[in-house]
Amino acid sequence: MERTRSEERRLSTFHTLYSKYITKIASFPENFSGILTPYMCGIVGYIGKKEAYPILIKGLERLEYRGYDSSGVAIMEEGDILIRKKVGKVAELSKLVKETLPNSKGRVGMAHTRWATHGEPSDVNSHPHTSNSGNISIVHNGIIENYLSIKKILVDKGYKFESETDTEVLVNLIEDVKKESKVSIDEAVRLALLEVAGAFAIVVLSKKDPNTIVVGKRGSPAVIGIGDGEFFVASDATPIIEYTDKVIYLEDDEMGVVKDGELTVKTIHNEVKNPYIQKLEMKIEELEKGGFPHFMLKEIYEQTRSITDSVRGRINAKEGIVKLGGIESHKEELLSAKRILMLACGTSFHAALEAKYFFEELAGVPVSVEYASEFRYRNPVIYKEDLVIAISQSGETADTLAALKLAKERGATVFGVCNVAGSSIPRETHAGIYTHAGPEIGVASTKAFTAQITVLLLLAVFVGKENGKLTVSQVKEILAEMENVPVKIEEILLKEGEVKKIAKELYEKKDFIYLGRGYGYPMALEGALKLKEISYIHAEGLAAGEMKHGSIALVDENMPVLFIANKGVHHEKIVSNMMEIKARKGIVVSLITEGDESTKKLSDFCIELPKTSDLIMPFVASIPLQLLAYHIALLRGADIDKPRNLAKSVTVE
Ligand code: AGP
Repeated sequence: MERTRSEERRLSTFHTLYSKYITKIASFPENFSGILTPYMCGIVGYIGKKEAYPILIKGLERLEYRGYDSSGVAIMEEGDILIRKKVGKVAELSKLVKETLPNSKGRVGMAHTRWATHGEPSDVNSHPHTSNSGNISIVHNGIIENYLSIKKILVDKGYKFESETDTEVLVNLIEDVKKESKVSIDEAVRLALLEVAGAFAIVVLSKKDPNTIVVGKRGSPAVIGIGDGEFFVASDATPIIEYTDKVIYLEDDEMGVVKDGELTVKTIHNEVKNPYIQKLEMKIEELEKGGFPHFMLKEIYEQTRSITDSVRGRINAKEGIVKLGGIESHKEELLSAKRILMLACGTSFHAALEAKYFFEELAGVPVSVEYASEFRYRNPVIYKEDLVIAISQSGETADTLAALKLAKERGATVFGVCNVAGSSIPRETHAGIYTHAGPEIGVASTKAFTAQITVLLLLAVFVGKENGKLTVSQVKEILAEMENVPVKIEEILLKEGEVKKIAKELYEKKDFIYLGRGYGYPMALEGALKLKEISYIHAEGLAAGEMKHGSIALVDENMPVLFIANKGVHHEKIVSNMMEIKARKGIVVSLITEGDESTKKLSDFCIELPKTSDLIMPFVASIPLQLLAYHIALLRGADIDKPRNLAKSVTVE
């Protein structure tokens, strides 16, 4: 995009000052720009009539699921910017502020919760970072990829750096531009952002501009909330919904500047924008635990509603109709697709794998399921007739975002299946379907998974009907069973007590194996992932038929082996696999269909699932798998909602 004349003029000042170095920056290869590698911190900002600190700290608590290595806050107070930052969870920060900044009255501020990449979790690497003069401070979610070359320029100019972070380099670059070009704080931020490669969502405060807050975005999410004479900034809408439902999702290379109560949105190329103000659908209650001890347990119990909401308005079981408005615009590409490629990570990958079975059985369309992180660095063969579906709860997972952009560049039509409205993936795809699971706060994905397989099953039925693979009566039958899923979920939720008993017997085990066949195979993978990520037990999910090719060597009297053993097409084979484990004294845990006494006898522990078809089994089997992981982790004293080393949306590659 062409620079404006005044921009050229400003930049020429910039360039004359740094000309002998500019080449260094410019030499970075374009595809290194790293726009696709956001970072998984949480940022919050406020400017208005209220005291900023209570709003900022509450906002951080809401965003803590994004990363919780360290946190910090900056409050504009009597011409100064007061900063407090601390390694550890947000609770550590609020303790520090209580002790050292008890009566903060400032009405402008910003805050940050971090998940470390550049520089280990430490007080000095925590945000906010401040420029050498102390006049400008910044919080940042993202990665500045050419920060080392900029740092060299600044070091040669005498700048000093306390931390190892790329962020401290950015705030000093802003300071240097401001000094050299004698421009306003927002103009200095704009000019500096023109020079950085990488991803950022930033909030900037300047001592000399007490009624100004500057926001910038590229790659990492940034939302601005519009209140009555006050403005909020955050990485997602969860810290904002409490105060206003009017938000603007900044686009890449856009800035928001609030000065003396006025908000201006413009591009970093100085083009003023008239942004679309969206009305938030979520409700504040959805962000509270609602009396449950953990968000994860609350979200497990919310699946009757989340599945109902993900089906609502999309099916008419009596008429055998599936209506998916979000893909109408690209229905032809979907129905003429020779192959479907599904891109995802983690639990979303398991939902995609389940969908592969749905599509091949119901629509007769070949599906290839790809780990997004592998796909994007392979040289994948993509045909124009391919339809690519990117599946992501958060809509911000960097690998999935990168993989879908690659597929798009190579001419494929790309759909998205996401749970967060306004997130990056839905905005990058040609069409898509939202899962209506509501905000998912617990890092271990539960209700988003069952909502994902709900909409993916609807999509498979839609294609199967449209391409004639399914008869109308078959469609009616499937939709009728889908409509009944919430009832079955209610039934199986009543068995939490039984799951708890099994957890008590097994929570001290060091290893766990999960086995399934057909629709049960992705469920075995998902069950193992749930246990791993919140209880830290080494668990492995496998296709049951694979055991005898090696992994059965792991089995002895200490190895619990959980079978997805519902009375489906693979039941006999699964029973013989159970025998093989029994023969090696393994501990057999099984999910069986209620009333299946013979399989029950084979099991040391079992949970009876309500009767369903094989197709619908994954919905009911999800619940005991999630509850078993939850109760084992609880008995092991793990931090259920914020498991170690993890974060809710993995926005780094
Ligand atoms: C699942 O419990 C984990 N939180 C993780 O594996 C997650 O599924 C993965 O990071 C993908 O996230 P997404 O669905 O938001 O893209």
